Amino acid sequence: METTGTLERFFGLKGKTALVTGAGGGLGSALAEGLAGAGAAVALADLPGSAGLREVHARLEQEGYAVSTVEADVSDVPAAPSMVQQVVDDHGSIDILVNCAGINRREPILEVTPEIFDRITGVNLRGLYFLSQAAARVMKDNGGGKIINIGSLTSTIALSEVSVYGCTKSAVAQLTKTMAVEWAQYNIQVNAIGPGFMRTALSVPVWDNPARRSWMEGRIPMRRGGQPDELVATAILLASQASSYISGQIIFVDGGFLSGSPW
Ligand SMILES: NC(=O)c1ccc[n+]([C@@H]2O[C@H](COP(=O)([O-])OP(=O)(O)OC[C@H]3O[C@@H](n4cnc5c(N)ncnc54)[C@H](O)[C@@H]3O)[C@@H](O)[C@H]2O)c1
Repeated sequence: METTGTLERFFGLKGKTALVTGAGGGLGSALAEGLAGAGAAVALADLPGSAGLREVHARLEQEGYAVSTVEADVSDVPAAPSMVQQVVDDHGSIDILVNCAGINRREPILEVTPEIFDRITGVNLRGLYFLSQAAARVMKDNGGGKIINIGSLTSTIALSEVSVYGCTKSAVAQLTKTMAVEWAQYNIQVNAIGPGFMRTALSVPVWDNPARRSWMEGRIPMRRGGQPDELVATAILLASQASSYISGQIIFVDGGFLSGSPW
């Protein structure tokens, strides 16, 4: 039985190039390493001067993967085409975009300022929108591609004190569908991953707050938060030939959280 051939045919990413934003962070670095492990060349993008970006680049390079870096702020919308161009210059193409850069700030709605609102939407939504547009223009000319947006539980449910973040993530879920519909004609599949509570710098305020942590673990059917690595297989699915007929979906990787809670 030829299992390796089947896996390679459906899930292999050899010859493909992925741009992963937020690659210096907890989830982005795991996704970048996972895609590289499946054979993709990976352009790692994060804020200029990001220590996380330097670390993940050095680690993946040492592991022998074909990686490069793109230092840019995704909220700098006019720079989006040059981010994509840098990937094409470094690797010859862009086949996969993982929109993972994201920020959050926990405030009650009554405390949110216009500056907080603009910063979070600027990164999580406006940045994602225009980087996807820039990448899709190249993918269209190349005959296709894959875009993976990172959503959240708040793409579909409300949690208190993350109103702006939740607005951006529910917009990302809707945008995933619209991009999927508009770009199907160009053979670009657009999907999203909705991570549950994963342990990273972004989620420290949940993990390190005893009341929030026990609330979280009590409600997750699997009774635990997730590790960044647990998103990798879903990303490979959505980046590869295996998802040739999947588009416009948001796949939640949440230990069963959105299905309900045990009593
Ligand atoms: N950790 C979780 O539990 C969780 C759950 C659901 C969704 N998410 C989403 O996953 C994504 C990654 O989050 P994480 O947990 O890895 O957080 P993280 O803070 O570890 O990583 C986020 C990365 O994005 C980068 N970034 C922030 N602003 C940027 C900008 N303007 N331009 C370029 N890069 C920028 C940061 O420098 C950082 O490296 C985010 O979109 C987040 O909303 C995380």
